[in-house]
This record gives sequence, C-alpha cells and structure tokens, in this order.
Amino acid sequence: MPDASTAPDAPVLFFDSGVGGLSILKPARALMPNMPVVYAADSAGFPYGTKTEAELTARVPALLGRLVERYNPRIAVIACNTAATITLSHVRAALDIPVVGTVPAIKPAALASKTRVIGVLGTEATVRQPYVDRLAAEHGADCLILRHGSAALVAYAEARLRGEPANPAIPADALAGLLDQPGGDRMDTVVLACTHFPLVQDELAAAAPRPMTFLDGGAGIARRIAFLNGEAPWPAAPPPGRAVFTRVDDWVRELAPALARFGLSEINAL
Ligand code: DGL
Repeated sequence: MPDASTAPDAPVLFFDSGVGGLSILKPARALMPNMPVVYAADSAGFPYGTKTEAELTARVPALLGRLVERYNPRIAVIACNTAATITLSHVRAALDIPVVGTVPAIKPAALASKTRVIGVLGTEATVRQPYVDRLAAEHGADCLILRHGSAALVAYAEARLRGEPANPAIPADALAGLLDQPGGDRMDTVVLACTHFPLVQDELAAAAPRPMTFLDGGAGIARRIAFLNGEAPWPAAPPPGRAVFTRVDDWVRELAPALARFGLSEINAL
C-alpha cells in the first residue's frame, strides 16, 4: 500500500488495450492534479474485446508484471472492462501493489433507472462475462438488463482520437444493438461498459432516439485511487505524463496530439 514513505514521483499506472483508459485517467487527474502518470496501452494486443478469455489471461497479468517492474507504480489501474472482468483476480495475485479494476457500472445504473430497463454496452468479451452476471444479479435483480458488444465502436473511438471524421452511423448502430432487443424501447439508462465509449458519449447521446442517462466508472475509480493512496505524497507540481505502447507505429504516432491533450507528452515503447 502507498503510505507517507512513498516517493512523491512514484506514478499511478493506467492500463488499457488502447486509448480507452483516457476516459478513466481524465477524472482521476481532475481529482488528483499532481498525480504522476504512466499510461500504458497494449497496442500490439489491441483489440481485446474480440479475444478469448484464455488469450487475455495469458497476456494481461504478464504484461502488467513487466510494466510494474519497469515503472515501479504505487497503484495499478486496469482501465479496461474487458481486461478487468476477465483477469482482475490473476493480476491481483501476480502483483504486490494495489490493483483497481474497471467493471461495468451496473450498480449506479440500477439506482438511476426509472423504467428498470438498463443497457450494458461493452465489448463482446465483456458482455458475456460471469462477472457481469454477478453484478446484474446483485444490483439489478429487478431490472431487465440488455447487453450488446460492439467492436466497431471501439475502433471508432480510436479513430476519432486520431482525428478521423465523425460517422454517426457507427454510434447509432451500437445503440441499436440494445434498442432493438425486446424491451429496448423502455431503456432509459446505458452503462458504458468499455472505457473507449465515454470518449464518444456525446455522439452516442446524439444518436439516441430520446434522452438517456449514460454512466461509466470513471468518477468512482478516481475516488478509489485517492482512497488507496491515503496519505502518500504527490509531487508539488504536475509532472509530464508518460504514454507507453507495446508497439509504436503510425497508428500510435497519429494519437500524439490527443495524448498531449490528456497531459501525456512523452511516448515510449515498452
Ligand atoms: N477499452 C477496453 C474495455 O474497456 C477494450 C477495448 C478493446 O480492446 O476491445 O473493454
């Protein structure tokens, strides 16, 4: 656990397959402005949502182990629902620092929904997880919980951050995957169960046939990091954030302006 003896420059490590974790980084930085950040993206393994449980369990804990060895973070944040719902217990077993996972915000959605119809929009891998079954049973037993996985929306969020033009058909299709299911006409709350999706939340809201509440875990994770950090000191001024990619190619280089907007001014290869 971080404590008063933690070096102020020990970073918080954020991990995702791509840029999705930026939606988790943003509220964390807003709450802890001087937090040193290493943002790690597994660009060589992207996308995660179409991979099998076995592939992700073989890949993610080992990769996080390498990142922790290299950067010595005070806390690791799995800023990816797919990786967290599948590998969280393996990662916790492999690391000796606190690990925060991002899991679908079904609990706040069940508190917010008036119609008791909730959509869970994630990756294909996330929406089939027993972890999601458990959250649904624990917190939304009286709700109809619709699920849809969209790899196209993940790729779209990446493309938008690289500066590609909007294509309203893609968020509309993703939302239709929920709305077109039986009961979808009553859905009033959508859980953004993939960290890429809050990055295109405005476009999803614009595609919705009526006003809906979109929820994600970002604010809760920021509070969790602050709680786990406790009394451990932060630097006196915000240090430049570092982005680390498992493969640096043109796709990554095109992301540099967006990364800089999130305070990540340095790009390195792992
Ligand atoms: N951002 C990730 C998530 O929260 C996964 C996207 C992907 O690589 O498919 O699930």
